[in-house]
Amino acid sequence: MSTDRGPAILAEALSKRYRGSAPALDGLDLEVAAGTVHGLLGPNGAGKTTAVRILATLLRPDSGQARVAGRDVVTYPRGVRARIGLAGQYAAVDEVLSGRQNLEMFARLHHLRATAARRRAAELLERFALEGAADRPVRQYSGGMRRRLDLAVSLLRSPRVLFLDEPTTGLDPRSRNRVWDAVRELAATGTTVLLTTQYLEEADRLCARISLVDAGRVIAEGTPAALKSRVGQSRVEVTVPERWDVTTTAATIARALDAVAQVDPATRRVAVPVRDGKRTLVRLAHAVDRAGLRTEDIALRRPDLDEVFLHLTETAPTGGRSR
Ligand SMILES: Nc1ncnc2c1ncn2[C@@H]1O[C@H](COP(=O)(O)OP(=O)(O)OP(=O)(O)O)[C@@H](O)[C@H]1O
Ligand SMILES: [Mg+2]
Repeated sequence: MSTDRGPAILAEALSKRYRGSAPALDGLDLEVAAGTVHGLLGPNGAGKTTAVRILATLLRPDSGQARVAGRDVVTYPRGVRARIGLAGQYAAVDEVLSGRQNLEMFARLHHLRATAARRRAAELLERFALEGAADRPVRQYSGGMRRRLDLAVSLLRSPRVLFLDEPTTGLDPRSRNRVWDAVRELAATGTTVLLTTQYLEEADRLCARISLVDAGRVIAEGTPAALKSRVGQSRVEVTVPERWDVTTTAATIARALDAVAQVDPATRRVAVPVRDGKRTLVRLAHAVDRAGLRTEDIALRRPDLDEVFLHLTETAPTGGRSR
């Protein structure tokens, strides 16, 4: 049965073991709502690329099931392939051909007519700022240019579901922004995007939901905000200037706020976990002032995804096999 209703990606208990190694996937579950950007986040070797390759029908799972755009990846791979785009972790473009020739060739492989292929290639070259290099052979491209070209290829057909395996690794900030914009535009027009990344900031900005993967399974799933609230609280941090005693400052702050202050001598920071961050920040500023303490910086810090990531991959029962 094929249906376009329901989740765009649904994977249940996917397992995969490459010959002679530990399981790459060990019961991975994933559900991605249509038209959303979903992040797969995890350390090196967590199984992200393996999951993407299975969902994109390039690899068969040993067990478990998955449907993409309503089609089963094992029993109806052609149906899946017709509806997806994939930009892999390693670019798959032809080195000898130019960027434009690559795009036109892939467009023809997707059954576009010659004029339509030319038009689409020109559009995508412009979108990813590759016009200047369009007619140079790809072997002369920089890493970032290759990535952008690979991404352009994956967008030739306006896929229903797009898999992006580390789309911005190695890109400079401007190119990264271009990719982010493209992903947002795609999502706005209804494309579902599954994105793997090492960059928590990227997941935080782009993804409606994130699955945190470690050792071949999902150890946490949710919105970036929900994941962040799982580990810990906000805190106020005071950075103490050189030549001032961090411990004395910490004691004063702890007394003033009636709280426990943590000291990190290496960074010269005093941190106090807080509930009502803004109010505490104001109280703290007054207290510091009254006590005549010198500070380099006073800031309110919310937990970021980096902390979530470290916290959860360290405490997961399956353990960080890959580190
Ligand atoms: N072709 C292969 N043959 C044998 N083992 C493999 C193969 N590809 C991946 N693996 C192993 O499977 C596990 C998962 O690898 P995978 O590439 O899916 O991880 P990843 O999360 O994409 O990592 P990275 O962040 O480094 O890209 C790793 O232990 C890896 O060594
Ligand atoms: Mg990978």
